[in-house]
Amino acid sequence: MNQNVMVTGAGKAVGLGFNLVLRYLESGDTVVATIRKPCPELEDLKKQYGEKLIILTMDIGNTPSVEQAAAELSEKLDHLDLLINNAVTVSPDCDKGFFDANLDYIARTVDVAAVGPMRVIKAFYPLLKKSEITGLIMNISSEAGSISKCYRTNMIDYGMAKAALNMATMNLVNTFKDDHSINIFCIHPGWIRTDGREDNPAPLSSYEAAGILQELFEKKRNDFIGHRFITNENEDYPF
Ligand SMILES: NC(=O)c1ccc[n+]([C@@H]2O[C@H](COP(=O)([O-])OP(=O)(O)OC[C@H]3O[C@@H](n4cnc5c(N)ncnc54)[C@H](OP(=O)(O)O)[C@@H]3O)[C@@H](O)[C@H]2O)c1
Repeated sequence: MNQNVMVTGAGKAVGLGFNLVLRYLESGDTVVATIRKPCPELEDLKKQYGEKLIILTMDIGNTPSVEQAAAELSEKLDHLDLLINNAVTVSPDCDKGFFDANLDYIARTVDVAAVGPMRVIKAFYPLLKKSEITGLIMNISSEAGSISKCYRTNMIDYGMAKAALNMATMNLVNTFKDDHSINIFCIHPGWIRTDGREDNPAPLSSYEAAGILQELFEKKRNDFIGHRFITNENEDYPF
């Protein structure tokens, strides 16, 4: 069955979001790709896939922008079956440790990478509720957001943001617990060459990672009792 899928942060051709868009288009689904600025590679896909691809401008750090995008989409689609919260940002000091990083950057990263997906879920919830299957929300998290497995002294903003995203996910699991028309997970998507560099030691290309996730998401759609923080290998990951 074809579905309506939305992927945030899809405007970087070598990134995971763009490659998720590509995978779902290749499967015959209708895909909403959200971007902040024009992406020539998405325009090329638009020429190829026509109405199957909807490109939506949305800044997830800005509530009016998210609400405006949801209103715009509801003119074009009557429901969503899958929302993939993929967009993320990191601060320029992400690689620095506590004593060197400007801590004032942290709030912006958390605002975009953790509050952002919540803004998106709230605004697009009415469309997800209209899915005839279970409306699935997949929050792309990271092993870096695990508090119990934390080993780093850098990536403070990113780790804090992903830990907050995991907490947001659990809050929403509780919120939706009696409503089996919506399901939600956070997922570590694997170690991926999302910068597109061949010398990046990560084992997966963004296209390979997207294919693995696409298959996994369908396995999880109606799993209402399993652990909520999982990996791309369908393993439970500790919060
Ligand atoms: N690479 C890995 O090994 C790895 C491991 C674990 C988790 N992840 C997660 O996988 C996901 C994809 O990674 P990636 O490297 O492909 O991501 P990315 O390119 O760093 O970010 C994805 C997109 O998010 C967009 N974005 C940034 N700020 C935004 C905002 N305020 N509103 C809307 N969109 C915004 C960016 O758009 P612009 O192009 O406009 O800046 C970008 O295209 C992320 O959630 C990441 O944390 C990756």
